[in-house]
Amino acid sequence: MPDASAWTLDRKLAYLNHGGFGAAPAEVQAEQQRWRAAMERNPAGFLVRQLPDLLSDVRGQVAEFFGADAGGLVFTDNATTGTQTVIAQATLGPGDEVLVTDHCYPAVLAQLRLAAEAAGATLRVMQVPIPAGDSVAVAEAVLAGLSGQTRLVVVDHIASCSGLVFPVREIAAECRRQGVPLLVDGAHAAGQVPVNLGSLGADFWVGNLHKWLCAPKASAVLYAAPQWRGTLRPLVASHGVFAGYLPAFDWTGTRDPSAILAVPAALSFFRRPGWDAVWQHNNELARRGAELVAGQLGTAQPGTATPDAGWLAAAMRLVRLPDPVEETVARALESRLFSEFGVVVPVTFHRGWQWLRLSAQLYNTIGDYERLASALTKLGLAARRGA
Ligand SMILES: Cc1ncc(COP(=O)(O)O)c(C=O)c1O
Repeated sequence: MPDASAWTLDRKLAYLNHGGFGAAPAEVQAEQQRWRAAMERNPAGFLVRQLPDLLSDVRGQVAEFFGADAGGLVFTDNATTGTQTVIAQATLGPGDEVLVTDHCYPAVLAQLRLAAEAAGATLRVMQVPIPAGDSVAVAEAVLAGLSGQTRLVVVDHIASCSGLVFPVREIAAECRRQGVPLLVDGAHAAGQVPVNLGSLGADFWVGNLHKWLCAPKASAVLYAAPQWRGTLRPLVASHGVFAGYLPAFDWTGTRDPSAILAVPAALSFFRRPGWDAVWQHNNELARRGAELVAGQLGTAQPGTATPDAGWLAAAMRLVRLPDPVEETVARALESRLFSEFGVVVPVTFHRGWQWLRLSAQLYNTIGDYERLASALTKLGLAARRGA
């Protein structure tokens, strides 16, 4: 199993925020650099003649990883671009509704707000409390918001604020039954849980490769079900925009394709230990780490409170702070943990700034969580233990 020596992270840090931006192993960074060098030897030859075939090869490998047909898979710089692409082209009018949950990533919520306001539509935000109960309760909490006016449903595959793994397959099945398009924000899913886009049944699925797949930054995918490929187009039109779905997205102007071209190196990095072993390692370490920190704080870790917790939390787990805090206090706590203790961990918001979100990746060890627990004690946050 690869360990921290495969990454270039600062070894003085306890880096518990893989969910934030991912981190690419050294060999993946080197592969990206090789592609950059190849491009700069003959930029015109590389970008015009070689790139289409190279992209098509990467697309094939990524499609296989996702169990998807390659004809539906295009590359974007990041999940934000993918969600905006779909949301900008949603058919919305006055009185229509867009359904979303209170776990939605703030940037995606902002995109939805803008689209709804421009169309005179309503944003319906469903509450999904944590602890979340089981996957049936989560699906019901989301689907209770469907109405005859719903024109788009947006759910996270794994939510940023909570790490909650949504039952997207069940939600997709009901949306399909009711004929309402579903966009799944899978920013955190690829590489954190198994994802099979062929059987998932969503209309649109957007996911980062630069988070849990550990590909270089600015690598993401947008998958569209066959019925949308005739009309969905990138936000930026260029040469291929009238030539069909794939050509329209493959060239949106000159940009650095090296991150996308290095994705196969990331896939091969994880294929060596095998995905099942990686998922088991990361889920188990996150669970143990959260248990340890929650034990120190004397508070709850909601992701593991239910029998099917394995499906409701994966490699990002929440631990509740002793009390909710203001955002400024949350940010100050993050800063002090970093500057005084070398611990990188986010405080997240769900019904208050009250959660530490702990990630686990192969480079982490239980010692990282022990360092966090000890830092929290020194900062006086374990004072209420047993109270
Ligand atoms: C759920 C979710 N959606 C979208 C994004 C945006 O990802 P990116 O910044 O790569 O566009 C994030 C980033 O953390 C996220 O957590």
